[in-house]
Amino acid sequence: MFKIDEGFVRDLLRTSEAAIEGGERRILVTGGAGFIGSHTARRLLSRGDFVVIVDNLNDYYDPDFKKRNLIELAKDFPERLRVYVGDICDRELVHRIFAEERPT
Ligand SMILES: NC(=O)c1ccc[n+]([C@@H]2O[C@H](COP(=O)([O-])OP(=O)(O)OC[C@H]3O[C@@H](n4cnc5c(N)ncnc54)[C@H](O)[C@@H]3O)[C@@H](O)[C@H]2O)c1
Repeated sequence: MFKIDEGFVRDLLRTSEAAIEGGERRILVTGGAGFIGSHTARRLLSRGDFVVIVDNLNDYYDPDFKKRNLIELAKDFPERLRVYVGDICDRELVHRIFAEERPT
C-alpha cells in the first residue's frame, strides 16, 4: 500500500506556493509523448510554462511517433522542457522527479 510522507507533501506544497506566487508554473505531463499529452505539453509550453514529461514510450503503437513528438517539442522549446523516459508506476522514479523538478 502507498504511504504518503507528510513532511514531503508539506515541503512540496510550500515550494509550489512560492513558485506560483513567483509566477513560475512547472507542470508534470504524464504520457506526454503520446497524442493528447504531446498536444497538451505544446499548449502549456506555448503559454510560457515549464513542462516535465514522463513517458515510458511503450509499444502500444509505433514508439517512433512518440519520439518524433518529443523531438518536435524539444526543438521548439529547448529551455523549458524536461523529459523522463520511465514508468509512472515506478515509485522511486516518481519520487525522484518530484524531488528534482518540484512541479507546481
Ligand atoms: N485520443 C483520443 O481521442 C482520446 C479520447 C478520450 C480519451 N482518451 C484517453 O486519453 C489517454 C491518452 O490518449 P492518447 O490518445 O494520447 O494515447 P497515447 O497512447 O497516444 O498516449 C499515451 C501515452 O502514455 C504513455 N504511457 C502509457 N502508460 C504509461 C506509464 N505507465 N508510464 C509512463 N507513460 C505511459 C504511452 O507511452 C503514450 O505515449 C488514454 O487514457 C486514452 O484512453 C483519448
